[in-house]
Amino acid sequence: MKTGPLSAKLVVRVMPSVVAASQVALEELQALLTTEPRALYSFATGATYQTMLLSLHRLVVDGRVSLATSYVTHLDEYLGFAPDQRGGMVHELCAACPSMLSLLRRGTFLPVPGVGSKTALAQHEARLLQLHLPRLQFLGIGRNGHIAFNEPGALHSQGFHVTKLAATTLQDAAARFAPAAVPTHAVTAGPASILSAKRLLMCAFGLGKAAAVRAMLEGPIGPECPAAWIRQHPDVLVLLDPLSASQLQNTVVVHG
Ligand code: F6R
Repeated sequence: MKTGPLSAKLVVRVMPSVVAASQVALEELQALLTTEPRALYSFATGATYQTMLLSLHRLVVDGRVSLATSYVTHLDEYLGFAPDQRGGMVHELCAACPSMLSLLRRGTFLPVPGVGSKTALAQHEARLLQLHLPRLQFLGIGRNGHIAFNEPGALHSQGFHVTKLAATTLQDAAARFAPAAVPTHAVTAGPASILSAKRLLMCAFGLGKAAAVRAMLEGPIGPECPAAWIRQHPDVLVLLDPLSASQLQNTVVVHG
């Protein structure tokens, strides 16, 4: 198993704060939206991107960024969830960035089909392909090393598929669904789908992510830590804060 970075271009930046890192992530998107306004952009859901998504919404409202001609999608959805269902990924993305609601209404926000049938997933993949795949894929990492909902043990070759959520993933989502139970299964972009995006932008913040970040950047590339597969992609930016970077030992990082 290979342990060194394989990416032609893997840049790891340690920013002084979550706010500073979120600003860099937003600027990446802003720059691409200017040069490639008709492209497809794919978001990750969760706490990591709340700051960036709120800032994106403000820029759209102020007229400084336009999503009018762009296409938007995301990584994963709880099995059986409709796009407007509370607790679901589309609902969460639109709550964090309400400007996305108008894209949803006009059909330029492509929800991951929560129904999870082979036909629906094949249609979704075909649509992404028709739009030339995501120009930029935002990613977060689970504390167990998952990307999207590819839990440890995932298959590298998989496209969109239905998966069972790991125990730590269920624990981490508990507050979001309380007092109801967390759904146990989800539809997710597979490693192959994620690696097909043109550029990957991974953000990870906080001490709780430090071990997973180390496994992602310095551990074996394989199913033990699905996030480590990003090292096989030719164009990756990883944005960390000092806490999430605190266990790195031999990764070359740029400060700021
Ligand atoms: C969700 C997703 C997940 C999260 C990860 C981190 O769409 O892709 O892999 O990015 O679980 O979640 P947060 O950001 O809540 O720590």
